[in-house]
Amino acid sequence: MIPLIDVRHLSKSYSLGEVVVNALSDVTTTIEQGSFVAIMGPSGSGKSTFMNILGCLDRPSSGQYLLDGVSVENMQRDELAEIRNRKIGFVFQNFNLLAHVSASENVKLPLLYSDSVVGDVDAMTRRSLEAVGLGDRLQSFPSQLSGGQQQRVAIARAIVNQPRIILADEPTGALDTKTSHEIMAIFRDLNRNHAITVVVVTHSDEVATYADRVIRFRDGRLVQDETRPASISSSAAAQRELV
Ligand SMILES: Nc1ncnc2c1ncn2[C@@H]1O[C@H](COP(=O)(O)OP(=O)(O)OP(=O)(O)O)[C@@H](O)[C@H]1O
Ligand SMILES: [Mg+2]
Repeated sequence: MIPLIDVRHLSKSYSLGEVVVNALSDVTTTIEQGSFVAIMGPSGSGKSTFMNILGCLDRPSSGQYLLDGVSVENMQRDELAEIRNRKIGFVFQNFNLLAHVSASENVKLPLLYSDSVVGDVDAMTRRSLEAVGLGDRLQSFPSQLSGGQQQRVAIARAIVNQPRIILADEPTGALDTKTSHEIMAIFRDLNRNHAITVVVVTHSDEVATYADRVIRFRDGRLVQDETRPASISSSAAAQRELV
């Protein structure tokens, strides 16, 4: 089977005046469809740079990226935007919601930008919010919601287009421990029951227990790649929920 994500010798450097920063150096890996991957590593090790390339928000300086078997290097801007919209859902540390519109308007937004929406936009929006347990807060504004609820809205927005992948960069970074587990449980549900591939950047070992594979970066290099049996990751996570 073709891996969903296939990167080969990926590098990204930034020039800052005379200095060149190698944010990513020669990263080669694949991520299979249906997997749940945690990305860890010290600050500045290249995690966000890697995620931005996977999400087609940024391009590598060199190397190849095949998404679903298709090389993204030579795609035009509008093709990339279309792929982002159709295949990828993003979740960020600070939720990135529009402050002055309701939860349902926030979630609906990607549908309004998409050319290929089939179905009832309002129904899709409602289903997404119900999937994250916010079916009763459709009309709430972000300021009327807790951090955890705002992140749920962001997840609902990420899944409304029924993407193949969710890319979440420190999605629990602004949340307390209990809320972090609630958010991770949602990702696990989307991964297990809705076949969405999930890639989560985290600094937390506890958060990483939800993943069945942990990739570690250091100085822009992929230095460790550990897959654990699904039974361990799910039972560790299940145990924590009981606490
Ligand atoms: N736009 C940019 N211009 C210049 N340098 C950049 C840019 N973006 C990232 N970098 C540099 O690339 C390196 C990797 O940054 P990146 O944001 O990927 O790290 P990170 O692992 O996500 O860190 P953190 O855990 O703090 O979020 C860092 O040295 C950073 O300063
Ligand atoms: Mg980062």
